[in-house]
Amino acid sequence: MSLDAATPFTAQQLDAAGRELLFTEARTANSFSNEPVTDDELTAIWELVKWAPTAANTNPLRVLFVRTEEGKARLVEHMADGNKAKTASAPAVAVLAVDTKFYEHIPVLFPIRPEMKDHFASNEAASTATSQFNAAIQAGYLILAIRAQGLVAGPMAGFDAAGIDGEFFADGRFKTSLVVNIGHPGENPWFDRLPRLANEDALSWA
Ligand SMILES: Cc1cc2nc3c(=O)[nH]c(=O)nc-3n(C[C@H](O)[C@H](O)[C@H](O)COP(=O)(O)O)c2cc1C
Repeated sequence: MSLDAATPFTAQQLDAAGRELLFTEARTANSFSNEPVTDDELTAIWELVKWAPTAANTNPLRVLFVRTEEGKARLVEHMADGNKAKTASAPAVAVLAVDTKFYEHIPVLFPIRPEMKDHFASNEAASTATSQFNAAIQAGYLILAIRAQGLVAGPMAGFDAAGIDGEFFADGRFKTSLVVNIGHPGENPWFDRLPRLANEDALSWA
């Protein structure tokens, strides 16, 4: 497989080890070891995420990687009480945010329809729905990319969003949507595995 545009892409099945690592055996981490995560690793995670698809190639997700003690102290203050200790133990934390003015990039990201910039700029309902939905699927891609990088993720929705926005995104353009701890598993990192829906409760066929 190649990212070289001259080489045609061919779909093929991921092997069993890859499926386990990304999906069936991977777990959500609730504690982290002292082993550091490098900026190169964090960048490599984004270099995967950015290729996964979004509507009209809008790419509305923005990521703030917090990995200094000072930055983590500012962040932990705004986490829900049950999420403070795990966030403090993570060597790196990704604060995911929606760029509310994502449409400003449309002329570059979607040059076949640059006028979509004006559509979103003048239609707040469409702009909000599109940016929130697509930033959310990018958040899912990010969790899988963390796993692909050989690290574990701990996504958390329990935080004071206005507090984090005020702390890190004071100009109001980026809106925090999810916080994801990143690192290597610490002591007792996994909660008991919870069941998943039976196929008949999740699937229908037409
Ligand atoms: C969007 C999202 C928000 C979550 N919020 C929290 C949270 O605030 N605190 C927490 O401890 N776990 C949180 N979790 C973790 C989930 O409970 C966990 O991923 C799920 O139970 C599956 O666990 P498993 O991967 O170990 O099977 C969140 C997960 C996701 C994807």
